[in-house]
Amino acid sequence: MSPIDQENSSSTFSGSHGEGTKALGGKVYISTYGCQMNVNDSERMMTLLEMMNYSPALSPDQADLIIVNSCSIREKPVHKVHSEVGRYRVLKKKNPHLKIGVSGCVAQQEKSKLMKDVPLIDFVFGTDAIDELPEIISQATQGEKVVRAKFEHQRPYHIETMVRNPGVSTFVNITKGCDNFCTFCVVPFTRGRERSRPMVQILDDINRLVDRGVKEVTLVGQNVNSYTSDCGAGFGDLMKSVAQKTGIERIRFTTPHPKDFNKELMEIMQENRDKVMDYIHLPLQSGNSEVLERMNRGYTREQYIELAHMILKTMPGSVLSTDIIVGFPGETREQFEDTLSLLDEVPFESIYAFAYSPRPFTKAARFEEQLTDSEKNLRLRELFEKHNTLSFAMAKKYVGQSLKVLVEEYHDGEQKAGRCFGRSTQNKSVHFDGGPELVGKTVDVIIDQAFPSTLYGTLREGI
Ligand code: 5AD
Ligand code: SF4
Repeated sequence: MSPIDQENSSSTFSGSHGEGTKALGGKVYISTYGCQMNVNDSERMMTLLEMMNYSPALSPDQADLIIVNSCSIREKPVHKVHSEVGRYRVLKKKNPHLKIGVSGCVAQQEKSKLMKDVPLIDFVFGTDAIDELPEIISQATQGEKVVRAKFEHQRPYHIETMVRNPGVSTFVNITKGCDNFCTFCVVPFTRGRERSRPMVQILDDINRLVDRGVKEVTLVGQNVNSYTSDCGAGFGDLMKSVAQKTGIERIRFTTPHPKDFNKELMEIMQENRDKVMDYIHLPLQSGNSEVLERMNRGYTREQYIELAHMILKTMPGSVLSTDIIVGFPGETREQFEDTLSLLDEVPFESIYAFAYSPRPFTKAARFEEQLTDSEKNLRLRELFEKHNTLSFAMAKKYVGQSLKVLVEEYHDGEQKAGRCFGRSTQNKSVHFDGGPELVGKTVDVIIDQAFPSTLYGTLREGI
């Protein structure tokens, strides 16, 4: 049993502020940290709160309710929550009815301790308790202190996507939690066991989003390609059904795990390439097999390289990006160099790299031979420097190419007059001159200037 399981709590206790009660409704400010999962959770909270008569506040000082939706994947998350809530002390003095809550991974991890350490906090709720928000808020506004941070490991994962203004491109959760227990990662402890949403629900959800004008969905989960619907359908089946049974124009997904990426999935992606985008974010973490083993990643350096090459062969022209951790406990200079040299073997157009940071409950936090911060930061800088040279060279190939761009925004502000922004199939940000009527359309743009993550081009008219 994990420490988190033992600590599971779901309790409500009376507050000591004695500031009286207030009717529900007013202005709410949600401050969101971390991954797309948290962004989706905040959107879900806002939708539920709107049903309870709350409307969004533009800044915390206008709010009757503030929620800090926290993230604990890397560096000083508890400290960040303490200092953000601390900044609201003066607002609480001005408005004694103001209620402050903490949600997300830090809430799940710290539970009632958060409230004990920072008495300004009125309510704490974990990642499985979002749908209980109406009850939580109503108790908090009655002056009670509320903690809801229990995992419902067995409860089926049935949630409809809640997005207030979905826009052109929207994220749809397909799984939650993770059972992989990579030794560096806190997610299995803050998001609980892996659960998949039934496929029929996801398809209905996407069709509803299409009716609201959405053109692109990103299927989101901690480990999307271990998705298994209650009917037995796997991630490839889901992808095929989304492509063939919904009216969505573009499909993306994040994040797949290399150990669950098979040839069949690649072939399904290739067969449905008119809809499935040719960009794959495939977290590597380390280029050394021993380190990968101590990370409990389930693949070796050689297997990762083979997989990446197979993806590029099966889906020619597709683009790869990755996550890398440097300075994992015990990582030697030679092992780090294996990560550097892997960049020469796999053409990652972008990398997201992090210095290892010990996380509570995780095995690696207890490993001996923790590296110093300065060593980790030196390695991080070296990795970015190496990747920078490679990525500038890779970006050049786009100059002169015509890319299919789904237009997401039109900026009519002074600075960016006439500028449209969209994404190419390869997930590159593309800027070009065009009008507001292009938003939501897929257009051809010829690239004039290329940087690693941003391209500038000219609209190809009349096609
Ligand atoms: N330290 C540094 N980076 C981490 N990540 C996850 N846990 C840690 C940690 N303890 C990185 C991994 C993961 C990404 C989302 O965050 O690279 O893929
Ligand atoms: Fe964390 Fe590993 Fe699960 Fe990703 S697969 S969420 S890194 S435990």
